[in-house]
Amino acid sequence: MKELNSLKMEFPSRSANEALARAAIASLAAQLDPTIDELGDIKTAVSEAVTNCIVHAYPDCIGKVWLRGRIFEGGTVEITVRDRGVGIPDVEEARRPAFTTGGEERSGMGFTIMESFMGELKVRSAVGRGTVVTMRKRLSARL
Ligand SMILES: Nc1ncnc2c1ncn2[C@@H]1O[C@H](COP(=O)(O)OP(=O)(O)O)[C@@H](O)[C@H]1O
Ligand SMILES: [Mg+2]
Repeated sequence: MKELNSLKMEFPSRSANEALARAAIASLAAQLDPTIDELGDIKTAVSEAVTNCIVHAYPDCIGKVWLRGRIFEGGTVEITVRDRGVGIPDVEEARRPAFTTGGEERSGMGFTIMESFMGELKVRSAVGRGTVVTMRKRLSARL
């Protein structure tokens, strides 16, 4: 797959930066001429991943978040969101629909949304070291 364009960003885990990340990835993905729905799905997936860094990875402090976006010939978007926060003890459990450690105000549907909206989701994590979420979406073929 030939890479057409890419971006790398680093930002503190402040909630304002969820919109920043979403806008940056949307501008990159827009270069592949996605449908409105596809672009909406990508933006939602980025928001979920970045929100997890803000809320879960660094619960009591502001930490760094690294975002990478890549677009490929043929219409594939790849997004990586990385933190050096608390990590996830059991990734399989964390990925289950409705599993949350966040209490009442969290739905536990973030990973489920990322996977279903993007098509492909990988989560690597180590307790005390951080988490890497990689998502890939293949856009529908356009004329
Ligand atoms: N970046 C992260 N760092 C640490 N824990 C995380 C991270 N992302 C997700 N988690 C854990 O996985 C759980 C499930 O995440 P998610 O599906 O997004 O649901 P929610 O955010 O609503 O809890 C979270 O409750 C949290 O325990
Ligand atoms: Mg979440």
